[in-house]
Amino acid sequence: MTNSDERDPYLELLDADDPVPLVNRLREEDPVHWVPEFGFWFVTRHDDVKRLFNDPENVERDRRFWEHYTPAPEGSMRRWLDEEGMGSQGPEHHSRVRRLVSSAFTPRAIGRMEEQIREVVDRFSLPLRGRHGEVIDLMGDFTSRIPNVVISRITGVPPAGDGEVRFASLAQEMIRAFFPLAKEDAIATGEAAFAELAPWVREMVAERRRSPREDLVSDLVAARDRDEALTDDEIVLLVTLLIGAGSETTAMGGLIMIGTLLQHERELERVREDRGLLPSAVNEILRFGFGGPAGIQRYAARDFSLRGQQIRKGQMLMLSFAGAHRDPSAYPDPNVFDIGRDAKDLLVFGNGPYYCLGANLARQEMACMLDAFLDIVPPGSRLREDLQFHEEMGLFKRPTNFPVEVAKA
Ligand code: HEM
Repeated sequence: MTNSDERDPYLELLDADDPVPLVNRLREEDPVHWVPEFGFWFVTRHDDVKRLFNDPENVERDRRFWEHYTPAPEGSMRRWLDEEGMGSQGPEHHSRVRRLVSSAFTPRAIGRMEEQIREVVDRFSLPLRGRHGEVIDLMGDFTSRIPNVVISRITGVPPAGDGEVRFASLAQEMIRAFFPLAKEDAIATGEAAFAELAPWVREMVAERRRSPREDLVSDLVAARDRDEALTDDEIVLLVTLLIGAGSETTAMGGLIMIGTLLQHERELERVREDRGLLPSAVNEILRFGFGGPAGIQRYAARDFSLRGQQIRKGQMLMLSFAGAHRDPSAYPDPNVFDIGRDAKDLLVFGNGPYYCLGANLARQEMACMLDAFLDIVPPGSRLREDLQFHEEMGLFKRPTNFPVEVAKA
């Protein structure tokens, strides 16, 4: 699609205000596109993305299959997660751990989580209500705070009130060590954060073995499947994974949700008038808003061909959310944002054996945040245009704050 002096379209979309037209063009003209600067294939068709989530013969999730993989130092968190993590010990081990974790997500546990989400959302949203005529930071005071506290309540780490603020910063520091282009100092800070968090979780596991309580760690300790149980190490890894996988993603989800609705006033007023639309609005936001350069990585387990491209063993493939979710063969009028659509076959939580364990939780959190947001922000409120962005790339381009002018009463 490019000639030699044209800039690679993937690099263009990294900088574009609206990357979707470029993604759409790639899907039409070059749906499996090689990005030489980063050394990966950018895959943009819905059916290819979905199939690759379910294709263990050709692709692996384990990043040790990547041709440029260099192991982190012995004894580090990243090395431990790469070698012992849920996805690193073959499909049988992975499905055993998934079965055990799923058996901890009983209806009783899910009911408890719903209550915890509501309490946490109320705690952060009530002080923001009635601030007519003011500018409020809906990122710093709302979307960034909630998922972290929810995950801490759900896992029970740390016990309520005890070290919550420290936990929030440790969790965030740990996650930054996994950002695709993390710098050396962010990696070192993340490792130090994990060194502080892990003993906290380990002590809790030991304590819950002695005296179980109403929390997820107790449920994981009690989980049984065909006479098997999770080991202490597996629980520490899992809780770390839940903290990592559940905070930043859902915080970004909340932010994307609010931003998208503020840019589509008619749809915002539609959900305000009919809150029965909350679940389908969340699905449509997950379809429409999660995009740009972000995607999920897979690594070729052998040489194979895809849409005429020769993929070599060890190469990385980036499965594009925006590519899949704006594909007209999967969604009619894909570039129209319609909260009544109730989008199906979403790939933002993956698909197949590694499908996100927190998908329902994330949807619930987002619906609850949206419900509260409608009570914080009356019609006529608007996003200020002076957004600043973080330099380091996470899964998404992240603003440093999100100032919203709340309309006067
Ligand atoms: C909007 C929010 C979220 C998004 C977009 C998201 C996205 C994803 C995706 C795409 C995967 C699959 C990765 C792959 O196939 O390689 C995944 C896996 C996972 N997610 Fe989420 N997630 C979200 C929220 C959460 C939450 C709240 C939790 C937990 C509390 C969670 C826990 C997990 C876990 C444990 C896995 C690994 C599953 C496995 O290996 O079998 N996620 N997530």
